[in-house]
Order: sequence, then C-alpha cells, then structure tokens
Amino acid sequence: MRSNRKQNHYAFAILASLFFSLTASAAWTPPDKEHKRINVIEVDVENGEKVYGELCAGCHSLEAWGSEDGEYPQIAGQHKSVLLKQVLDIRHKRRLNPPMDLIVAKNNLPDQDLADVVTYISLLPLSTDGGKGNGHLVERGKRIFQQNCAVCHGPAAQGNDDFAYPKLQSQQYAYLLRQLKHVKTGERHVPVAMSAIVKKLKEKDLYAITDYLSRIKPPKAQNASLAHMANIMAQFSNAAEEEKVIEWTPLGKEANKILALKADIKAGEALYKNVCAACHGAQGWGVTSGQYPQLAGQHKQVIVKQVLDMRHKFRINPFMDEIVKPKTLGGDQGLINVASYIESLPMSTHNGVGDARQLKMGEQLFSKNCSSCHGTNGEGLAAAAFPRLQAQHFNYLTRQLDNVRANKRIVPTAMIDALKTLSQAEATAVADYLSRTVPPQEKVSTDGGTLNILNQINLFLQDL
Ligand code: HEC
Ligand code: HEC
Ligand code: HEC
Ligand code: HEC
Repeated sequence: MRSNRKQNHYAFAILASLFFSLTASAAWTPPDKEHKRINVIEVDVENGEKVYGELCAGCHSLEAWGSEDGEYPQIAGQHKSVLLKQVLDIRHKRRLNPPMDLIVAKNNLPDQDLADVVTYISLLPLSTDGGKGNGHLVERGKRIFQQNCAVCHGPAAQGNDDFAYPKLQSQQYAYLLRQLKHVKTGERHVPVAMSAIVKKLKEKDLYAITDYLSRIKPPKAQNASLAHMANIMAQFSNAAEEEKVIEWTPLGKEANKILALKADIKAGEALYKNVCAACHGAQGWGVTSGQYPQLAGQHKQVIVKQVLDMRHKFRINPFMDEIVKPKTLGGDQGLINVASYIESLPMSTHNGVGDARQLKMGEQLFSKNCSSCHGTNGEGLAAAAFPRLQAQHFNYLTRQLDNVRANKRIVPTAMIDALKTLSQAEATAVADYLSRTVPPQEKVSTDGGTLNILNQINLFLQDL
C-alpha cells in the first residue's frame, strides 16, 4: 500500500494524465509499436558512441559496466531491444527512474540518437568483475533460478533479444537485488508469470538468486537448448514418481462445478493477456518449437481439467506451478473465464510439424488405436475432456507421448495400452499426422494464423 501511495503522489506531481499508468493496477506491457519502429532504424554506431559519452557515461561509467555498489547497473552487452524498451519505459513513466527522466526525454534524445546509442551499448563487452554477494547461497540460487526463471531468461541467464527479455549475466548484485525487491512491492512491472514467483520467494532466496546471477559468465555459445528444458522437466517428473502416482480420473466434481459457472469472456481475455500470453503467445498459438502448446480452440473442459491436474500435481508442469494457483487465476470464476476465452480463440494451422515421411502410416495407426477417444479427425471429445489434437505442435505431441510411455504423464489406461502397441517410430508417425490435421474451417484464424514475433512474446526457445 505504501508504494502505491508514493506512486500516485508522484503521478499527480508530474502529470495528472499519467495517473492511470502509475496506479497499482498498471501492468507490464510487452514491446510496443514505437519500440518496433525505433528498433529497425538504420544506425550510426559512431554517433552512438558520441551520444553515450555525452549522456550516459557520467553515471553508467565509460565502459558501461555500472557501479559496484549497484546504484548504476551494468548495461554493456545487454540486448539492444532490452535497452531500447527500458529507455522507452523510463521516458513514458512505465518504469520510474527519475535520475534519467531529463536525459531520455525525446527532445534530449531523438529517435535516431536513441537507436544509435542502444546499438552501441549492446556491442560493448560486458564485465564479469562487478559487485557480487557473499557466495554462501549460490547453489541454492542456481536451483531456484533454473526451476523458475530460466524458462524466460534462459538457462544461462542470457535473456532474449527478440522479446526484450533482459540478460542477467554478471549484472551488479545490488542492482539485481533492488529490482527483485521492487518487483515484490509492485514498483517495477514485469510479466505476471515472473512477479507471481518473485512475490512468493523469501528474502534469503532473493539473495541466493542474485548472487548466482552476478557470478554467471557469458558462455561462448549462448544457445538455450530444448534438451536443457527437458532435463528440468524430467527432474520434477522423477520426484512425482516417487510419490507413487495413481490412475487417471475423468472430470471430477471440482471440475464440473467450475464448468457449470457462467463465464465472463471479457474478463477471461484480460486474464489471458496478463498471465498466459507471456508463454502461450498473444493468440494462444504456442510456439512452433513445441515448448509451449497451442491452446487456442481447445475444449474448455480440457483446459479446466489440465489446470486443476497441474494444481494438484497430478500433471507435472513446473513452469506453471505459480500460474495454476487460485490466487493467480482469481479462483474458480477466473478459471472458467480464461478457459472459455481460450476455447473461443481462432486456431493457427502454421504449427510445428514433423518430417512428413510416414504420414499414411500415422493416419492408419491413429484411426485404429486412438480415434475412438480423440475423434476421427483428432477433434477430441469436449464432454469427456478428451483433448483436441488438431494442429498441435509436433514436438509438443511427441513430448507428451514420450511422457506417457515413461509413466510421467497420466492418461487413461486404454491410451497407455494403445500407445504401447506402437514402436517409437510409429508413435512419431502418428504425432506427425496429428500435427497436420486441420480443425474445422470456422475454428481456424482467417489468415491461417501466421506465427510472427508480435503474437509470440516469450520465445527464447523458438526455432526461428
Ligand atoms: C543521472 C544518472 C544516469 C544517467 C546520466 C543515465 N542513467 Fe541509465 N540508469 C540510472 C540509474 C540510477 C538506473 C537504475 C534504475 C533502477 O534502479 O531502477 C539506470 C538504469 C538504466 C537502464 C536499465 C537497465 C536494466 O538492466 O534494466 C538502462 C537501459 C539505462 N539506464 C540506459 C541509459 C542510457 C542509454 C543513458 C544515456 C542516454 C543513461 N542510462 C543515462 C542512472 C542514469
Ligand atoms: C514469463 C517470463 C519471465 C519469468 C518466468 C521471469 N522473468 Fe524476469 N523478467 C522478464 C521480463 C520480460 C523482464 C523485463 C521487464 C521489463 O520489461 O521491464 C524481466 C526482468 C527481470 C529482472 C530485471 C532485469 C533488469 O535488468 O533490470 C530481473 C532481475 C529478473 N527479471 C529476474 C527474474 C527471476 C529471478 C525470475 C525467477 C524467480 C524471473 N525473472 C522470472 C520475464 C520473466
Ligand atoms: C511460464 C510459462 C507459462 C505460462 C505463463 C502459462 N503456461 Fe501453460 N504451459 C506452459 C508449458 C511449458 C506447457 C507444456 C507443459 C508440458 O510439456 O507438459 C503448458 C501447458 C499448458 C496446458 C496443457 C495443454 C494441453 O494441451 O494439455 C494448458 C491447458 C495451459 N498450459 C494453460 C495455461 C493457462 C490457462 C495459462 C494462464 C492462466 C498458462 N497456461 C500460462 C507454460 C506456461
Ligand atoms: C481411452 C481414450 C483414449 C485413447 C484410446 C487414446 N487417448 Fe490420448 N488422451 C486421452 C485423454 C483422456 C487424454 C488427456 C489426459 C489427461 O487428462 O491429462 C489424452 C491425452 C493425449 C495427448 C496429450 C494431449 C495434450 O494436449 O496434452 C496426446 C498427444 C494423445 N492423447 C495422443 C493419443 C494417441 C496417439 C493415441 C493412440 C495411440 C491415444 N491418445 C489414445 C484419451 C485417449
């Protein structure tokens, strides 16, 4: 509450018209049109160097390494799109940083100079000698970061230029800590998927993570691999196995109660954009790499059941641990709202597919073994919460099938049995066939759902 009051006060003092963007309800926003426009301006790096020396070096240091006490962050080597987003956010008071207000005002830093200076800074080598913590909790920090944060910031904390996700490697310890504390109090806006986790962490965990991050040296090859994500999933799945997980159950009382509620689609849309879009994309189309499934057009019964299963740890999905809590979703009503909104979304048919080598075989095997539940064309069965599989990303489908085979995802025994009659190659053929099945015309987006950067916000794993 205290911070809200402070922010509101600030808003009135500066410009009444900014009030709404500064209240507690102000949310994180992804890179906007202005960002996109300036990001592609042809740059003059030499001018960037000049601008940097005149306007930025005084605080951020000549090398852009910031200060060891963390008052000034290291900005050298940060992704250009991140630098640009932060400067624009500061300029438009979406991020409050009064010391920079006059410096980044448009009349002081025209678009061309801005494009030049952020490009210049992004090309500077970063220092690994900045401020660090006491080193006691680094292992703990690593564990928490890899489980909760790497999904967006990358396993090596390398961030993502396409989606303006900050690189956190070798950042000043005290600066990182301050940002996380500001996330906790709501003074700094980040995606809900991040703030929900940070708000849950204890002070000690924040020390641990930031100390870990301050010590990460940028690796030579900064490519985040899907295999790494799979490993994290596997660790969690193994933990679940030890608890001796039980048999699949159909839609139960809890789900049916929620499904009986009247949905508010508008509220569902707001929740989706606030919480789910960061991973599943603004349109619900997921990513072609299959890291995030397409949700658009899925039966609401399936969405509700999957979310509840995740909540009760019946389906293991560490990436959504915080998301599926009633608090994040706004209780039962929030869940039916968002599930109904997702069901209404037009689907993309430009999803990730397999190599097309055994499609005939895939079709035959599907129709013989799977269509009794998933429908003749993979449309699923809403009433029973049998998932629609049409136009789902190939890699997502194969991951689910592998998980079922390895007893890491619980499905009806009849499906397990059906799957066990198939060889690995045959299962892959079925997944390939399914990834190419086309939903009914009226469910498909009019442009076929071209996946582009604007509708995929969080995609460091996307195979561009
Ligand atoms: C008067 C001192 C000052 C000057 C001059 C200044 N900055 Fe900053 N800058 C800061 C402070 C302080 C922060 C940290 C704010 C916080 O803690 O939230 C910051 C943060 C930033 C960030 C956010 C970093 C991150 O990791 O999110 C960027 C980007 C940035 N500055 C860029 C610039 C650029 C570009 C210039 C020159 C055009 C500049 N700054 C000039 C004080 C300054
Ligand atoms: C859903 C994706 C997502 C997740 C999960 C996530 N982050 Fe972030 N994080 C972001 C984005 C996006 C920003 C930049 C926000 C902005 O636009 O200012 C950010 C900003 C930050 C910053 C500020 C960086 C800077 O230079 O100022 C820190 C520190 C950070 N995240 C740490 C974490 C930690 C620690 C976790 C896990 C507990 C985490 N993040 C989880 C997306 C995510
Ligand atoms: C931090 C990233 C992230 C966010 C945010 C997120 N999800 Fe997910 N979601 C995932 C991942 C990763 C998977 C795939 C897990 C797997 O492979 O089993 C997934 C899977 C799902 C599935 C299962 C799909 C299926 O076909 O069975 C549903 C349903 C789902 N998410 C709903 C949601 C909803 C609703 C929200 C917002 C309230 C949301 N997700 C927010 C990462 C996220
Ligand atoms: C007895 C009915 C039944 C049969 C037969 C069946 N399935 Fe399923 N399948 C289900 C149900 C129910 C689920 C959802 C499980 C849950 O609640 O998490 C599911 C889930 C899946 C998923 C994960 C979907 C997602 O969105 O995450 C895939 C992929 C899948 N099935 C493929 C197949 C294939 C391939 C076959 C044939 C080899 C098959 N199924 C046979 C009922 C069946």
